Amino acid sequence: MLMQTATSANDDIVLGAYGIELRYPRPNQPANTVLCDFSLELAKGEILAILGPSGVGKSSLLRVLAGLQAASQGTIQVNGGSLHGPHPRLGFVFQDASLLPWLNLQENVGFGLDFKHQPAITKAEKQQRVQAAIADVDLLGAQERYPSELSGGMAQRTALARSLARQPEILLLDEPFSALDEITRADMQTLLLQITAKYDTSAILVTHDIDEALTVADRILLIGQSPGRLIGEWRIDDEHPRDIVTTKITAIRVEITQALREARNSTKQQRRVASR
Ligand SMILES: Nc1ncnc2c1ncn2[C@@H]1O[C@H](COP(=O)(O)OP(=O)(O)O)[C@@H](O)[C@H]1O
Ligand SMILES: [Mg+2]
Repeated sequence: MLMQTATSANDDIVLGAYGIELRYPRPNQPANTVLCDFSLELAKGEILAILGPSGVGKSSLLRVLAGLQAASQGTIQVNGGSLHGPHPRLGFVFQDASLLPWLNLQENVGFGLDFKHQPAITKAEKQQRVQAAIADVDLLGAQERYPSELSGGMAQRTALARSLARQPEILLLDEPFSALDEITRADMQTLLLQITAKYDTSAILVTHDIDEALTVADRILLIGQSPGRLIGEWRIDDEHPRDIVTTKITAIRVEITQALREARNSTKQQRRVASR
């Protein structure tokens, strides 16, 4: 089988996934193969956006990359070492901020920092990291607020701060801004760029918003068909803040839109055949 690898031009690979296959068992039916022979590499400081039709396996892929879920086949490497479970240098941000309602903002940011798979830190260092992360997402002054007192944007900033407090080398973000209004989403995109630049953090952003991918990503991958596999790759080297209505980026938007439309249609067709 042809190995599809989205490789980076940069040699400094922080995260690599090689030959990933993911199957979900189903009762009285063949297993649902979600990803097949999927590979990608993420370079240091790179922001990679992943687009693809709904149900193609993007969230599953991100969980596998985070070590939260085991692949049926294939290997994941973080800084050249095999990944077998949650990694302290990998931060995860979900679509839903998943804050604990009984903890205030700073307690939410600090939550889990002393869990056992995290490197041991002193109380003072924990406090310092929490404060720094809250400052990074511009929420100083709101530390005592409870999740019910936060706007959607503030809740997502808190979720981002929680992952920053772990000083992640790699951020994995699963449609983190899709529930936000357009202006808040644009602010969050800017914030993500500032933070990744400040700490030289690499990131993989799953999004369904092509313009979001065009705004933030150095590289865009398109996953299509079931089982999910790589069907397109675009590199964008324009400086930030980026003008996404240039002729060049508009041409890329058209290509991605067409490829995504084809992927959606063929996914639907395959599902119809599979359900017959
Ligand atoms: N925990 C799970 N158990 C069984 N099947 C799952 C599970 N998570 C996802 N799936 C299935 O895997 C496929 C891909 O889902 P997902 O990774 O959520 O895709 P996406 O994020 O691209 O929408 C879907 O068919 C979904 O029903
Ligand atoms: Mg998803």
